[in-house]
Amino acid sequence: MTLPRRIRIVEVGPRDGLQNERASVSTSDKIEFVNRLSASGLPVIEVSAFVSPKWVPQMADASEVFAGINRQPDTKYTALVPNQAGLDRAIAAGVEEVAVFAASSETFSRRNINQSIDASLANYALVCAQARAAGLPVRGYLSTAFGCPFEGAMAPDHVASVAARLIDLGVYEVAVSDTIGIAHPGQVPRVLDAVLARVPAERLALHFHDTRGTALANVLTALPFGIRTFDASAGGLGGCPYAPGAAGNLATDDLIYMLDGLGVETGVSLAALSEASAFIGSRIDHPLPSKYAQAWQSARR
Ligand code: HMG
Ligand code: MG
Repeated sequence: MTLPRRIRIVEVGPRDGLQNERASVSTSDKIEFVNRLSASGLPVIEVSAFVSPKWVPQMADASEVFAGINRQPDTKYTALVPNQAGLDRAIAAGVEEVAVFAASSETFSRRNINQSIDASLANYALVCAQARAAGLPVRGYLSTAFGCPFEGAMAPDHVASVAARLIDLGVYEVAVSDTIGIAHPGQVPRVLDAVLARVPAERLALHFHDTRGTALANVLTALPFGIRTFDASAGGLGGCPYAPGAAGNLATDDLIYMLDGLGVETGVSLAALSEASAFIGSRIDHPLPSKYAQAWQSARR
């Protein structure tokens, strides 16, 4: 396989990683986590979500977290926004980039954001226009692209058409997302073939959860398709409160270990990232899912 020289990692640990944790992580610990992640050289950190605190109480302190972090010049600090109220809060917090989140499954869309796919895209059209007017780039997530916890399989052509509609709204990149970690290397090419017929590779990212242990294999499978951006979460934390059965994200630790081994640059220090993972691991009530993080911690004992 011809490997790319460089891969861009979008770190989603402070958002996807913490939004579903039972333990209540304090605002100051979230700030410390983001600062430690920044020290590893990550190019993008999704810091929090300006969603309804009634729906996701773990993200209620998004504004306070943004106010407390030390921003590094080479790192972009982003956040989820579901609506105009979220965008207003994000702009007030000085967020540099926002992300909207749609789904390919109707049922998941209603469970996660209480809107149909069509209604959510109409809402996001306004959010994107307002964000652009405020000078903020917008990223788009497309959840349940590889399968839905309520509806099962998703037709790749349907996934591609929702991805294209997100691009038409003006998002610069669509993160095609495996919300429940069900994708495998036999399926990834089928979904990518369909999506790439509508959206060029440089405007796609992949967002894998590792519920079934296939996330790293999925990344390797996606490289020959020209995908160069992958989302990952420090320590492998993660999961969506509205997606039953979703486990942690692809672990940033595991991803960097593999890419370092392949000689693919990420610009991220695995040693520094491991310190950030260990820090957040000490603030939650279960072991970190990342295999690399587990090995790193037992080597330090
Ligand atoms: P709703 O209940 O239909 O809307 O929620 P609403 O307008 O009636 O709002 C309900 C209450 O929340 C109201 O307060 C609003 O003011 C307030 P009340 O009048 O009852 O006191 N509210 C807000 N407060 C602060 N900030 C806001 C905001 N919006 C409303 N932005 C809504 C609709 C979209 C708001 C809700 O469903 C929601 O917030 N959903 C977010 C769910 C979520 O965060 N899920 C996890 C992230 S997505 C994910 O993990 C997948 C991803 O990782 C990719 C993948 O893996 O697939 C990205
Ligand atoms: Mg996710």
